Amino acid sequence: MELALYHPEHGYYGSAPRRIGRSGDFYTAVSVGPLYGRLLVALAQQVRAEMGNPSEFIIIEQAAHDGQLAEDILTESTLDYLIVEPNPRYEVVQREKLARFAQRVRWVKSLADIPELPALFICNELPDAMPVHLIRWTGSEWQELQVKAEATGALSFSLGPLSSLELAAEVARLPLDLPTGYTTEIGLASIQWMRELAVAKFRGTVFIADYGFDHHELYAPERHTGTLRRYHEHQTDDRVLENLGECDLTTHINFTRLSEIAEAAGMTQRTYEHQGRFLGKLGLPWLATLEGHTPDAATQALLRQYHSLTHPAFLGRSFRVLLLGK
Ligand SMILES: C[S@@+](CC[C@H](N)C(=O)[O-])C[C@H]1O[C@@H](n2cnc3c(N)ncnc32)[C@H](O)[C@@H]1O
Repeated sequence: MELALYHPEHGYYGSAPRRIGRSGDFYTAVSVGPLYGRLLVALAQQVRAEMGNPSEFIIIEQAAHDGQLAEDILTESTLDYLIVEPNPRYEVVQREKLARFAQRVRWVKSLADIPELPALFICNELPDAMPVHLIRWTGSEWQELQVKAEATGALSFSLGPLSSLELAAEVARLPLDLPTGYTTEIGLASIQWMRELAVAKFRGTVFIADYGFDHHELYAPERHTGTLRRYHEHQTDDRVLENLGECDLTTHINFTRLSEIAEAAGMTQRTYEHQGRFLGKLGLPWLATLEGHTPDAATQALLRQYHSLTHPAFLGRSFRVLLLGK
């Protein structure tokens, strides 16, 4: 999964950021339009005020992709911006897109390189794009689904022992009464990411928006084929070994586990709720300014974006926000 997504030449997220939105493979809150960035500027202002309005306050973004959210936020605010980008080809694209904000944007390669500053850290749909381990309950033990290459080059899954003690430790947290054949995934990479985020040097607030579940929802008996899916041109299925590098591969994230790891490392859970509720509240002051006015075309477009981001039938309910204090 890591190679299929991140191989520098052949991975889906390898050589250049792909188009997201109508002409891409999937939508994200960023691709809905600039309102998402505006709402995050409002969040940044709240966080900055809570911290006593420090002058060196920055927004840090990881998974900045083609720089669209950064552009939306930089356009709407005077804040400085730091992008965590390990992929040099993505950085080139982001630098080009953000050239007119060059004085206000910096780049680092990893979380460990973030300076000691007051900040709002944001990421939209990052942990769902991290590789996972697939596992199956055989009725007597958990085994791992490993990817096997035939002499013909065809790929298939074969069952083998769990590949690490760390995986075994996570597997030990699963419910005991799952049916034989139950197949699911464990996101070791996202757990490691949260550990690294917790020890990064900035202080302030962490905003994570993604689709995912609580531990008990993710590992419910009826979810017996897990959540690993591939996306291509807005179609989704579970044929995850086909057209590798041409399709996005993704899973729902385990919010409970990420929150536990964060708290064990000294962070605090501030909010955990559906995106619709969280962004809906952030947008209320803006909505209040519209009262009594007939919205012009630009405002109508923003109102449609507000609807897409918050309505339960669109992104409002399937996405959740985890806000952590750090
Ligand atoms: C589903 S896309 C989301 C893109 C964008 N945030 C949005 O919401 O439109 C996942 C993104 O995560 C990025 N990504 C994955 N691992 C990363 C890492 N360790 N550091 C920075 N970006 C990462 C990928 O390059 C890709 O751009």
